[in-house]
Amino acid sequence: MPSSVLVTGGAGFIGSHVVRAFATTGSSVTVLDDLSSGKLANLPEGVTFVEDDVRSPSASRLVRDGKFDVICHLAAQIDVRKSVEDPAYDVAVNVGGSLNLLEAVRQSGKKSTRFIFSSTGGALYGDVEMLPTPESFPKDPQSPYGNAKLSVELYLGYYARVHGLDTVALRYGNVYGPRQDSHGEAGVVAIFCERVIEGRKLTVFGDGEQTRDYVYVEDVANANYLAATKPLPPAGPLDSRSFNIGTGVETSVIQLAELIHTASGKTPVIEHAPDRAGEVRRSVLLATRAQQVLGWSPRMTIAKGIEQTYRWFAAEHDGVASTA
Ligand SMILES: NC(=O)c1ccc[n+]([C@@H]2O[C@H](COP(=O)([O-])OP(=O)(O)OC[C@H]3O[C@@H](n4cnc5c(N)ncnc54)[C@H](O)[C@@H]3O)[C@@H](O)[C@H]2O)c1
Repeated sequence: MPSSVLVTGGAGFIGSHVVRAFATTGSSVTVLDDLSSGKLANLPEGVTFVEDDVRSPSASRLVRDGKFDVICHLAAQIDVRKSVEDPAYDVAVNVGGSLNLLEAVRQSGKKSTRFIFSSTGGALYGDVEMLPTPESFPKDPQSPYGNAKLSVELYLGYYARVHGLDTVALRYGNVYGPRQDSHGEAGVVAIFCERVIEGRKLTVFGDGEQTRDYVYVEDVANANYLAATKPLPPAGPLDSRSFNIGTGVETSVIQLAELIHTASGKTPVIEHAPDRAGEVRRSVLLATRAQQVLGWSPRMTIAKGIEQTYRWFAAEHDGVASTA
């Protein structure tokens, strides 16, 4: 068990679950977050909170002087469409911010700090024929967001090989679960749950047969915990310390709507809108490597995960969801 952990983006959706995964096992947890989309209410009692931007000199100082055993780096600009509208902002936060932290780890001289980067499986490989897709598949990101994630992974390799840092990348599928923001573009599960609760129509782009690998947020938090605590293969070229974190199960948007129907007991009304340009048709990840090396496998089925998520959104809507 690492004694001291920094979680950047810890006030966000996935980060707040990562914080709990470490805090409940007794690690001392510090959260660095600028609250641009995260919320203080997402944090449990007992963590140290620092409101700051990952690009800042003060964030660099925190990392340099903090001597953390583990850094889970989740803070990011997460909206693919925003990255298309403003690629310079995306690269500044997602590449520049990551580089600021990696440089600070190097300057700290604490090479044993394990740096776990939240990368993407959904936006890295592009439209592929090999499904489920393994880590080694050629990368072909379709957006500035995907380019930035790939770029940081290349820097992880550089810092590992040249400076001896202990770096890892976790490539998530489509993460869903409690505390996801339903207002952005990122989470279709959150948007659908919210709309069903409010009795509004579900907008499905194209025929709704496009598929994704939906992975429950607590499984993703557990992947961070395992990546922090397991021995890893030597760091080398791209992919050597990267792990797909997905279920290997493909779920279409229409199937998702049906699962929410079952969970809610309400029949969602679906309206179709034109296909969105540049959207990948099918995406599903092969995660046998995470299973073999990290001992990770998803514990949650999509049906149960959607049921729990829907219940959380319904309770939140009624104002009774606890922040625990
Ligand atoms: N949600 C998914 O399906 C998914 C899939 C693949 C990868 N990821 C990655 O997982 C990570 C977490 O995503 P999430 O879905 O929890 O998003 P989120 O928006 O809920 O969390 C991001 C957090 O980072 C903070 N943040 C943003 N910019 C910052 C900055 N400049 N300085 C400090 N803090 C900043 C936000 O306030 C927020 O709390 C991101 O790196 C994202 O790219 C998410």
